[in-house]
Amino acid sequence: MPTTSTTRSAKKSTRRVKKGARSASKKTTGGAKRATPRVKKVTRSAARKSARMTTKTASRTRKRGSQASKRRGSAQRADAIALLRKDHREVKELFRRYRRLGAGATTRKAQTMERIVKELSVHAAVEEQVFYPDVKAEVRGTKRLVDHALDEHQELKENLAKVQRLEPGSEEFEATMRTIMNDVNEHVKEEEAELFPKVRQAKSKRELQDMATVMRTAKNAAPTRPHPKAPSTPPGNVIVGAASAVVDRARDAVRGAIGSG
Ligand SMILES: [Fe+2]
Ligand SMILES: [Fe+2]
Repeated sequence: MPTTSTTRSAKKSTRRVKKGARSASKKTTGGAKRATPRVKKVTRSAARKSARMTTKTASRTRKRGSQASKRRGSAQRADAIALLRKDHREVKELFRRYRRLGAGATTRKAQTMERIVKELSVHAAVEEQVFYPDVKAEVRGTKRLVDHALDEHQELKENLAKVQRLEPGSEEFEATMRTIMNDVNEHVKEEEAELFPKVRQAKSKRELQDMATVMRTAKNAAPTRPHPKAPSTPPGNVIVGAASAVVDRARDAVRGAIGSG
């Protein structure tokens, strides 16, 4: 009968639907069961990775911080010889800059010459006021070297004063600049090869660091121009140097104001 057949077919269909639903639910549950540990594993691995990255970043930051503080510390505690060597390197860099300028670059030549004169005047004053007198009095076997260095400083100051009076780019200007650069290179070679090693051997790190502190103060108050007629040894150079420095720095300030105006 059609009704019974329809009912049976409907029941069959209901059973198929239930079975399908059970199977789907099983698959889903099974799938979910397998997926959960994988998700946990991925999450744990990501967490571990992130922790590793955080540790690495923190360690890198700490390392950078300690390197920066070391640099700050070493700059603050640089010793007298390190400071003088740094000045030497800076002056040599100015010489290189000067030599690279073409024949027609007279304005740049004049500006670079003024920088060279200033750096060398300050450096010479610091050596004469602080380094040489201390070394000569306390380090055995340096008297001859210091006296010779003072003679060379005197000659240098005369040439620095002379070049400032000459016409930039003129033959005499160029010749005087060449003499200054050659003489300073030779003087620096002698200081670094003969005088500095004796001082480093005789003085403790602490003594040289203390001397550097005095030198920094002297540098801030040193004359910025050559004064060949002024005394080059204490106490005259300290007294006259202080007075000259005031005048030089006032003139530098006026020149700077005119230049920037
Ligand atoms: Fe010197
Ligand atoms: Fe020097």
